[in-house]
Amino acid sequence: MPIRSKPAETKQSPATENVQAKDEEIFIPQEPRYSLDDIILPQATKDQIMDVATYAENSYRVFEIWGFKHTHKYSKRIGVNLYGAPGTGKTMAAHAIAKNLGRKILIVNYADIESKFVGETPKNIRKAFEAAKATNSILFFDEADAILSKRVTNMTQAVDVSVNQTRSVMLMLMNEYQDFIIFATNFISNFDPAFMRRISVHVKFDLPDEECRKKLWQMYIPAQLPNNLDAAELAKKFEGISGSDISNAMLNAAFKAARLHKNELDKNFVFESVENILASKAANENNNAKVSVEKRKVSEEYVKKQVAEGKGTVI
Ligand SMILES: Nc1ncnc2c1ncn2[C@@H]1O[C@H](COP(=O)(O)OP(=O)(O)OP(=O)(O)O)[C@@H](O)[C@H]1O
Ligand SMILES: [Mg+2]
Repeated sequence: MPIRSKPAETKQSPATENVQAKDEEIFIPQEPRYSLDDIILPQATKDQIMDVATYAENSYRVFEIWGFKHTHKYSKRIGVNLYGAPGTGKTMAAHAIAKNLGRKILIVNYADIESKFVGETPKNIRKAFEAAKATNSILFFDEADAILSKRVTNMTQAVDVSVNQTRSVMLMLMNEYQDFIIFATNFISNFDPAFMRRISVHVKFDLPDEECRKKLWQMYIPAQLPNNLDAAELAKKFEGISGSDISNAMLNAAFKAARLHKNELDKNFVFESVENILASKAANENNNAKVSVEKRKVSEEYVKKQVAEGKGTVI
């Protein structure tokens, strides 16, 4: 296979200028939008988040007074990885951690830093670290699996070099960094072990249990809404849905009721809305499921017959 030549990156084409102009705007910290009180989570998960959020204020006690500086590396870097099912509150929790620390949050999405020019993506990552440092904000890599996934070994050479360069730069920047870094991902299994080692705390986000679902329904039924909904009933009736699904189901149901000029939101609208969400999730899972192969012993004649009838190929 011919080795792909490196795309020209030195030429200042209008496209490159756009990428650079975009970079300047991308890494702007923002005020955290959520606090821990806004998130419905099992107490154990909240406790884990609080342990992280209070790390800075307790580090003098732990390292100096309790002597951990003699047994452990006194690092100001703390990597936190929030992982688990989609729509369970990971992004909200990242905001809440920053809020608890009284700091702004600098959100980096992979789409913001990805560049089709070889060598540009690592530069963008470096800019994100620099921007967080300069503004004293909490660095948050959302959709982190895209950046921290395992090293790629079997791609075409130009892509391979670029992807692995991104990993190496990320590892180096993480080593040098002396502050909080938060990651969020749905696919922890894709994480490179080298990154796993550098992230000290991993917090798992599960789909809400019945108790949490009840609180979520209560949270997303507005007080002014005329309705005959029962949060406990909804929590019991529908499993396998996230906080995000509950929030969306409520809004979809309300718009349907409004379109049909109803004076109140009847529970059947919400049931239907959740069922639609569950159906779309099931279809999505089926699509993503690996093809399962059933192995059976068959006679040679059977195989020949199947192949002759066009039902299979010999491999
Ligand atoms: N635990 C929760 N408590 C309250 N609201 C929630 C919770 N989880 C999800 N939501 C609702 O769903 C929305 C999406 O949540 P969030 O973006 O934090 O999920 P996520 O885990 O980051 O999802 P993804 O993996 O898709 O990025 C929130 O803005 C909120 O309205
Ligand atoms: Mg998220």
